[in-house]
Amino acid sequence: MKRLGVNIDHIATIRNARGEFHPDPVTAAKFVKKVGADSITIHLREDRRHIKDIDAKKICLLKGLLVNLEISTNLKMIKTAIKIKPNFVCIVPENRKEITTEGGLDLKKNKNRLKKIINRLKKNNIRTSLFINPSLEDIRLSKELETDCIEIHTGRLANLIKSKKKFTHELSKISKCSILAEKYGIEVHAGHGLDYKTTRILKKIKVIKEYNIGHFIIGESIFYGLPKVIKNFIKIIK
Ligand code: PXP
Repeated sequence: MKRLGVNIDHIATIRNARGEFHPDPVTAAKFVKKVGADSITIHLREDRRHIKDIDAKKICLLKGLLVNLEISTNLKMIKTAIKIKPNFVCIVPENRKEITTEGGLDLKKNKNRLKKIINRLKKNNIRTSLFINPSLEDIRLSKELETDCIEIHTGRLANLIKSKKKFTHELSKISKCSILAEKYGIEVHAGHGLDYKTTRILKKIKVIKEYNIGHFIIGESIFYGLPKVIKNFIKIIK
């Protein structure tokens, strides 16, 4: 069964624009679950530009909701994650100046640090995922790191499709990486820049088990509402 994870960071972005309390990401997390998402994703950034610690804490305390927390490799962030106990952690690279996560992790450079982080998270019964670029070398390194899952950065594919450029080479790279990861027993997820069209195209890669989608869902919901948009994605994915 394929799963849909909804990233609700931008609910917090809208709330923060006013510096008040509405719309509340905790309410959003409950709502998104009620209308059919399998999990929610929140990215607790080092600069706390959208989701704040208190949001993450409250969301992780909700019963019956699977929470995927994205965090950087900063040890303070890992400690925070272990304290608030999400079900899943996805380790992402983080750069203060970026608007959004621009690429996958540099697994080679951060191998030792990542190994320690994965061990610590696993000891705390947290499912681990690494956000990586579609590279076979990174799949081999992911196997050595013994991560439970990988999330393949689909941003480049999404940009090519949206700008009507040739995308078959990028899609084939993602496909080959997904198949190798699955062969190694690593669960494959996909995320970044996905909309209806890009998700339909990606769905051809059968071994992708989870899609994590944020910006398009929140943006499209302005016109059609969250329940409708989430239901449309469920129809595409499942
Ligand atoms: N997956 C990861 C690891 C991300 O960092 C993001 C962006 O925060 C997403 C998925 C969702 O990307 P988008 O908002 O473009 O759908």
